[in-house]
Formats: sequence, structure tokens, C-alpha cells
Amino acid sequence: MKIARFSRIGFILAAAGSAVGLGNIWKFPYIAGEYGGGAFVLVYLFTVLLIGFSIMIAEMLIGYLGRRDTVTSFEELAPVNKHLWKFGGFQALAGLFIMIFYSVVIGWILHYIVTSLTTLPANVKEAEATFTYMLHSDIWTQLLYHTISFVWITYILTKGIKGGIEKMNLVLMPMLMIILAGMFLYATTLGAFSQAVEFMFSPDWSKIDSNAFVVAVGHAFFTLSLGMGAIMTYSASMEKGSNLVKNAFWVVFLDTSIAIVAGLMLFTFLYQYGSGPAKGPGLVFISLPAAFYEMGILGNVFAVLFFIALAFAGLTSSVSLVEPMVQYFIDRFSWSRLRASILMGLFFYLVGIVALLSNIDDYKELLTWGGKNFFDWVDYVTAAIMLPVGGFIMAVFVGFIMPKEQIESVMKPQLKWAFDTWYFSLRYITPVAMFVVLLSLMGVI
Ligand code: PHE
Repeated sequence: MKIARFSRIGFILAAAGSAVGLGNIWKFPYIAGEYGGGAFVLVYLFTVLLIGFSIMIAEMLIGYLGRRDTVTSFEELAPVNKHLWKFGGFQALAGLFIMIFYSVVIGWILHYIVTSLTTLPANVKEAEATFTYMLHSDIWTQLLYHTISFVWITYILTKGIKGGIEKMNLVLMPMLMIILAGMFLYATTLGAFSQAVEFMFSPDWSKIDSNAFVVAVGHAFFTLSLGMGAIMTYSASMEKGSNLVKNAFWVVFLDTSIAIVAGLMLFTFLYQYGSGPAKGPGLVFISLPAAFYEMGILGNVFAVLFFIALAFAGLTSSVSLVEPMVQYFIDRFSWSRLRASILMGLFFYLVGIVALLSNIDDYKELLTWGGKNFFDWVDYVTAAIMLPVGGFIMAVFVGFIMPKEQIESVMKPQLKWAFDTWYFSLRYITPVAMFVVLLSLMGVI
């Protein structure tokens, strides 16, 4: 059914565009800060290499061989119990759920691009007041930018794989990398750079408990866009004869290096001009703007560029979060792309408004259960539960259900001697790790 295929570079940039997102620049530095820096970064790198990389290859394989939407791909590749395995494909729903808060956060970023043009907060206190006011009281600003984000994402989706997604990534990803590289180079000239290196790489193991491990695994999935069908859906449009291992390598490499570069840069600025490595979601919206203020006019330029880069990262991830469900309705129900894109867009847009309201003082109480508001619940359920479950299903599917000969015929020539290690990790290491994560989340261990 599908004819449009990514070019090789188009695929890598689109998959990297999916992986490099708010997770890398907004979430990673603040959770690294929360869990004490170095030790967390090492645990995270370890999970990325051991679990992330092998799941990435498995997910690409299902898409590449299945060639259809996630549900159909599972169904077609399952040698037995097809009707059961097709439910594996519903991991695509996770993307749509993530978009509920993701689009709201992109809205904040777009708003910050505009405000950084003229004013930056003079200190952390002021920055905090500004952010808190927007988050807890300013419905209309958040709604305006959430709407812009929704329109942009939906528009790109209506244009399809080639004319929308590939084109957008071919332009935005290089721009994002240039902006970050430029700011990073500047950061290396500052005295505080070594403190940032120290913070990110010297481990304090006392901060690492099972919770940090769970967060690291959850984040590895989130940041690599695994376990919800984004990579699978893109891989269905990969050119025939592509090398999955090389592609996966590039995506993991770009994603990880961009997270580290962004983290080092942010922490350098925070040490040099701010109050040190702040924790929590407010890091880029509170501490960072105040640090930029100290840099004078250059700070304004940096702030605008930084938020533009962050918006680009978020938007290229967003299209990949929604595309799996768009593809599902096109393939299974013969919907037009226009219809599928608009309806999926409306879903995250409207539920996103509920997430947005759950941060607003007047509605907070109504939309908070068990200590978490709706916004945080969506984040928690998707990143900590749905993605690992999706990963578990994929590992078991490729490791135990698909015929080994079929997998070997594609993967052995590409992985060579590493095939057995990959296959072993998929069968035993990954599912066990996922299981432990889930048990610990449910409070069993
Ligand atoms: N990887 C993206 C990020 O780091 C988020 C994402 C998750 C995108 C899952 C697609 C699928 O922000």
C-alpha cells in the first residue's frame, strides 16, 4: 500500500528526529540533576547500550519486515496466534498519549522563544514567578501555544512521510545540531565547563537506588523513542536492503551525544552564571533563563536560539509520536491521510487541554488523584509503564515468536559475530530487565 519511502539519510534523520526530543534537552538534564548526576548518567548509558540498542534493532526489524502499520506488522509476522499478537501493535497508542503533555510543553517553549526576544528574568526568583504564573494561572497563553503546536504537527502529518516528515527533519535536524554545537563550543570556553563535566561524569553511587534504575530504564526507552511503534512505523518506510544495525547505531549515537552535549552545555551555564545544577522540570524554564540574563545581550540571543532548538527537537519527535496511529487508520480502515491526521491531532489537542488545565490552580484539585495531577499521570503511565511493556512485548516477539531463520536471514549478515549476543540479550536480558522494572513500579519488589 505504501509507496513513499525515506531516503537513507532521510530515514536516519527522521528516526534521530524522533529520538532527539524534549527528553534529551528538557528531561534528561533535570532527572540527571535529581538523581545526583554522574552515577545516574552511567546507569543510563549502560541501559541505552545494553537494552536500548538491541530493542531498537528489534523494533526496526518488525517494521522493516512487516512494512505496514504496527498492528498489521505484528499480525503478519506472527507465525501463530495472529489475532492475539496484533494487540502488540497497539503500543502505538502510547505515542498519542505522550502527545497529550508533549504538545503542552512545546507550547511553553514556543512562548519562551517569543518572550526571550525582549526580556529575560533578572534572577531565579523572578524566573520562577514568571514560569509559575504561566503554569498555574495563565490558561490563555498556554492554550494559544498549545494550539499552534497542534496545527503545526497536524499539518506536517497531512503531508505524509516524504513531503512532510522527511522534509521537516532534513531541515530542522541539521539546524538543531548547528545551534547546539555552537552553544556547546561557547560553553567549553567558560571556566565552569570542568565543573559540568565533573557533575555529569563523576559518580556518587549513594544516590543510586532501585528507583533511579527504573527511571534510567524508563528514560532510555523514552529518549530512544522505543516501545511505542514510532521507530517501527518509520522503519516500514525504510528502503529495501537498508542496514538496520548501522541505522540503529546512528540513531542511538546521535540521541546519546545530543543529550550529553545539551546536558554539559546547560550545566556549564548554570554553574557559570546561575545557581548550579537545578533540579526538576523547571531547569530549562526557570534556572536557565535567569542564567542567560547574566550574559547580557548575548544571553538573549542564546535564549532565543536555545528555545528554537528545543522547539525543533520537540516538533520532530511529535510527528513520530502521532504517525503510528495515523498510519494505523490509513492502513486498516482506509481513512485518507488528511482525515487520520486531523482526528489524531484533535485527540491529543483536546485531551491536552485537560492536561494543561490540571496545572491551573482553579482546576488542579478536580484533576489530581493520588498525589499526581492528570499531566503527571500521563507522563508517568506512558514513560514508566507503557513504553517498557511495549519493549517487553517486542523483545519476546522477536526473541521467541518470530521464526529464528527469518530473523537470521536479515540480521546475521548485518550483525555478523554479534548476532548471538544480540539475540541472547533480546531473549533473556531485556525481558528480565523490563520485568524487574515493572515489578518495582508496582511496588512488588
Ligand atoms: N524520544 C523523544 C524524546 O526524547 C520522545 C518520544 C518518545 C518520541 C517515544 C517518540 C516516541 O523526547
